[in-house]
Amino acid sequence: MYSSVFGGITTDPAAMVIPIDDHMVHRGHGVFDTAAIVDGYLYELDEHLDRILRSASMAKINLPITYDREMIRRILIRTVSASKCRNGSLRYWLSAGPGDFQLSSSGCYQSALYAVVIQGKPPSRSKGIKVVTSSVPMKPPQFAIMKSVNYLPNVLSKMEAEEKGAYASIWLDDDGFIAEGPNMNVAFISSDKEFIMPYFDKILSGCTAKRIINLAERLVKEGRLQSISCENITMEKGKKADEMMLIGSGVLVCPVLQWDGQIIGDGKEGPLVQALFNLLIEDMKSGPQTVRIPVPY
Ligand SMILES: Cc1ncc(COP(=O)(O)O)c(C=O)c1O
Repeated sequence: MYSSVFGGITTDPAAMVIPIDDHMVHRGHGVFDTAAIVDGYLYELDEHLDRILRSASMAKINLPITYDREMIRRILIRTVSASKCRNGSLRYWLSAGPGDFQLSSSGCYQSALYAVVIQGKPPSRSKGIKVVTSSVPMKPPQFAIMKSVNYLPNVLSKMEAEEKGAYASIWLDDDGFIAEGPNMNVAFISSDKEFIMPYFDKILSGCTAKRIINLAERLVKEGRLQSISCENITMEKGKKADEMMLIGSGVLVCPVLQWDGQIIGDGKEGPLVQALFNLLIEDMKSGPQTVRIPVPY
């Protein structure tokens, strides 16, 4: 773990602590992001770094004094290196920082950066899963587009899914259009072989989904996909899709076979979701230097 409060990295779990007067702890005044570690490379670190900086700006959290993007990037890579972890994830937070127990962060000494490395397994294909429609209200757009630590709606939505024997709950926005899952985006293959997903204006701008949109161009060139677009998708249209998938750093590209008990497509893992999963794995394991940052162990 790295902590700017202590000013260094520790590999002793007992020292991996956050001060209780940090406003991220008692007020939720913090933002975070997660990047995958695949075979000793940080995948899409720069996109995740850009996103936490955007989230921090929306949450009115400045960088700790003397820190800039480059320094944070170096610290994150060094933290992974110190952990010796080759497959897993790197999660990091920018917080209003410690100082007092007030609401406003005006009494905080300075903002804080924390990072932790979570050991995991090499990426692998997941079996088709079930989803349900979330009854937990989704966050309004101002909060849905930033990755703050206020994940209670996401947690309750995920727990609702688990209680119903499903993997995730899907949010619909105020206009009834499909939005996203609690920690993943959602996309569809229509019967005309169009890749469609919701606009990013009311949901989190998923780094994986954005990359998939890029990688999917290859399937368009090969004639396997007709087009790639963002649009307002009704639940009715989504449920009638040929294929449905969840997309995110955690789930990668995961086929959805049932939504609220309704079978999607032919109820089997579809060829285009598999093709997109394969493209993502290939990109994670041998993609360009821009998306794979080597960790100097
Ligand atoms: C609410 C939400 N939507 C979408 C995503 C997917 O984003 P990414 O692909 O960057 O992991 C996440 C990931 O954490 C999320 O929390």
